[in-house]
Amino acid sequence: MNALPTVGVIGAGAMGAGIAQVAATAGHPVCLVDAVEGAAERACGRIATSLQKRAAAGKMAADEATAIAARLTPIGSAAELPPCAVVIEAIVEDLDVKLALFEVLGRSQPADTMLATNTSSLSIDAIAPAAAHPGRVLGLHFFNPPPAMKLVEVIRGQVTHPDVLERATRLVKEWGKVPVRCASTPGFIVNRVARPFYGEAQRMVAEGASPAVVDACLRSAGFRMGPLELTDLIGQDVNLAVGTSVWRQTQRDPRYAPTAFQEELVGAGRLGRKTGRGVYTYAADGTAVDAVADPADVERMLAAGTVGNPVTRTLAMLVNEAVDLVDRGEAGPADVDLAMTLGTGYPKGPIAWGREIGFTRVRDHLRELDAAYPGGRYRPSPALDTLS
Ligand SMILES: NC(=O)c1ccc[n+]([C@@H]2O[C@H](COP(=O)([O-])OP(=O)(O)OC[C@H]3O[C@@H](n4cnc5c(N)ncnc54)[C@H](O)[C@@H]3O)[C@@H](O)[C@H]2O)c1
Repeated sequence: MNALPTVGVIGAGAMGAGIAQVAATAGHPVCLVDAVEGAAERACGRIATSLQKRAAAGKMAADEATAIAARLTPIGSAAELPPCAVVIEAIVEDLDVKLALFEVLGRSQPADTMLATNTSSLSIDAIAPAAAHPGRVLGLHFFNPPPAMKLVEVIRGQVTHPDVLERATRLVKEWGKVPVRCASTPGFIVNRVARPFYGEAQRMVAEGASPAVVDACLRSAGFRMGPLELTDLIGQDVNLAVGTSVWRQTQRDPRYAPTAFQEELVGAGRLGRKTGRGVYTYAADGTAVDAVADPADVERMLAAGTVGNPVTRTLAMLVNEAVDLVDRGEAGPADVDLAMTLGTGYPKGPIAWGREIGFTRVRDHLRELDAAYPGGRYRPSPALDTLS
């Protein structure tokens, strides 16, 4: 059997180290680079230690752990990488720094080396022109932590060559991951479609609803966590930054407008679990002391009409967002559903959910919301009519 080709990974932080581990586990020699002296070596050491721990716990063979760790090589700089099948960058989320890196990679790697960015928020079309042969530049958006999360969004820029997308999709599958295809659109699939999950709950709480009751309503619909407790876990600052980035990149579309409620939390340092206080207040053992909902209140809210019902509102908005993404040709319906179930753990994909509820019913819920809150946030996607 031929040896697998070398994979380059730039950035040895949380994502880069995880991606390096995934590629090495799949059998590739992996070269890891970081701008901070010694960081790539330390990341290789951390990966080896965690693999040894897995072996000691009986989760993998000891010789396999040793073999995977032996495939990792720290390298001094991106320009010194050997020729690679693909180079994936997971460096700081800064366009200028990424442009400088792609310029180097474009010069130093063979013309058919795929150059991938793990960016969460930058456009592939903004990054690609920095590299010679920009048709080989694409996004490979892994989820955190990469060894555990199955989903990878394979992002095409305007000039990404179809053959590059094919090769990258195949590679991701060979790595045991589930690829979904998406255009380079703000937030890609997961970070775009998920926005109203948080936004609707925040709006309802700002209007006086109890956070614990809203969260309990969404859990009753099958979500593992309610939106408010989930943002406390993610970090209110991190969640606000993603939402604000999508809002800015969509010319401040009211659908993604950050809420004053969340901005105030962040302004007050109430960032969630990591600061002991966010929407909820956390005891030293991590339990939320004020997250108890009276079941009678939950029942009352679930029986409310569209405007007062967090499940109806949230589902209508999630379905609308997903349908619009598909309608714009940015992703296929099966990929959207796969991305949302694997990337966020939703109990059902929003397209399948919309079909179940009925797309015209979703449209009617949105019309009611639009009448109650004019301004464009709740405008129904025109595609809701044609899908029905
Ligand atoms: N953390 C997440 O949940 C997550 C999820 C998906 C995508 N991403 C994206 O992945 C990328 C990395 O995120 P992270 O959380 O791993 O960050 P991180 O801060 O943990 O790691 C970044 C690493 O890159 C190194 N670095 C910075 N500039 C560099 C350069 N010019 N050359 C080489 N190395 C450089 C830093 O020293 C650091 O070790 C970002 O683009 C981020 O948007 C993050």
